[in-house]
Amino acid sequence: MKRKIKILYASAEIAPYANVGGLGEVARSFPKALLETGEFEVVRVMPLYKNIKCKLQYVTDFSVPMEKGFETCVVKQDMDQTDIPTYFIGNDRYYCRENIYAYEDDGFRFFFFCQAVLQLLSTISFHPDIVHTNDWHTGVLPLLLKKDYPQIKSVYTIHNISYHGFIPASYLTEYLSEDEKVKLGYPHWLNFMKAGILYADLVTTVSPGYAGEILQEEYGHGMSGLLEERKASFVGILNGMDMKHYSPVDDSLMEYPYDVNHLEGKKKNRTLLRNRYGLPDKDIPLLAMITRLDYTKGIDLLLKAISYSKLSTYQLIILGSGHPYYHGMLSSVSKTYGGNIVVDFHYSEALAKQIYAAADIYLMPSLFEPCGLGQMYAMRYGAVPLVNPVGGLKDTVITDKQDKGLATGFYMEQWSGEALAKEMEKVITAYHSKEWNKYIENGMKMDFSWRCSVSEYETCYKKLLGLS
Ligand code: GLC
Repeated sequence: MKRKIKILYASAEIAPYANVGGLGEVARSFPKALLETGEFEVVRVMPLYKNIKCKLQYVTDFSVPMEKGFETCVVKQDMDQTDIPTYFIGNDRYYCRENIYAYEDDGFRFFFFCQAVLQLLSTISFHPDIVHTNDWHTGVLPLLLKKDYPQIKSVYTIHNISYHGFIPASYLTEYLSEDEKVKLGYPHWLNFMKAGILYADLVTTVSPGYAGEILQEEYGHGMSGLLEERKASFVGILNGMDMKHYSPVDDSLMEYPYDVNHLEGKKKNRTLLRNRYGLPDKDIPLLAMITRLDYTKGIDLLLKAISYSKLSTYQLIILGSGHPYYHGMLSSVSKTYGGNIVVDFHYSEALAKQIYAAADIYLMPSLFEPCGLGQMYAMRYGAVPLVNPVGGLKDTVITDKQDKGLATGFYMEQWSGEALAKEMEKVITAYHSKEWNKYIENGMKMDFSWRCSVSEYETCYKKLLGLS
């Protein structure tokens, strides 16, 4: 039998155990897609956060070197997850906290994680050919591997280049020459994102559009120079989605299942959601936005656009949580315009799916978007996306201007509240036109499955291992 390629996939989030943003979603669906090719054996590893609920079994424990001392690590495994074994790196001091991120010592917490994964390699029977790391949290891992396991290849995927992590240089002195230290940021704290970019055998990011953007100084968050250096080993591969997990027809959560040839169910789901939120069931479009409430997601633009727009022409549901400032602003908007605008801060995947299914139009006015999954989910459920054409949004949404026959959505002309309001008006007019179903149908027919992207990754993995 042909030997399978062994991949250890390390991520700070894996849905459903931990799912703050798109990283968790990808860490759930991508390894599964790899497994389905029959070419790979995959094992995943993530931190054991406090609120993880699954059947955990003790695997092993060991000490993890941290600067001059050691910390204990207890490794557990999800007993119910057998097709893709998932290991959890436990340490109460670092991970037994209410939230996943945004602590002062995040750099130390994830440095511990990287060191622990390294130790794990010598204690489990799974010997990976490739360690696939993700975002800054695991950026030090390619560096540690280079020094301790040079035979293992590493891949580093950038899901968002704007977040970096830091550690004092003393934590890595045994590993680094003076030059290397300086490259990583010395005399300041060393930068995890830089480590990932410099030491991984292959650097990827989650869309070709974003790959092109972050090579430019303006969008590279200080990393464009290093990426330029690694250009020969840097590639943008579009994320896929789990088309079975997100399906308007196969999902038992869908009160009225529907598909592209039977769209009546979509209208019924819309009525249901309107009733749930006390919105009148009128012939005006239902707009939706499911997002972290963060500046970069364009929430300020949305607030402005609401104030510029004719509220009687649409309804809007916003689902998500985040910055307290936006909680305040959005609460007051929904109080003022209760009959038209609903804000729900309690995200759940089930609710998100119901909103995608009910919505006519989906807004994504992000400042930048490495890939974006919301627009793909929206199209899958027949909600027409209105996006700022950056990164993965530009790679996945087709406008009339590009291809009248295949158009799936709309682009804002620039990143401003005025431009968003203007485009909203345009989409709302289109909603009442005879052409509207074209956008819905084209979007629903798009294939955003992992199929293509996994084969691109497969080619890259094989090249790294000298198998092609
Ligand atoms: C991050 C990015 C998002 C991307 C996701 C998965 O959350 O901001 O654009 O879709 O990672 O790669």
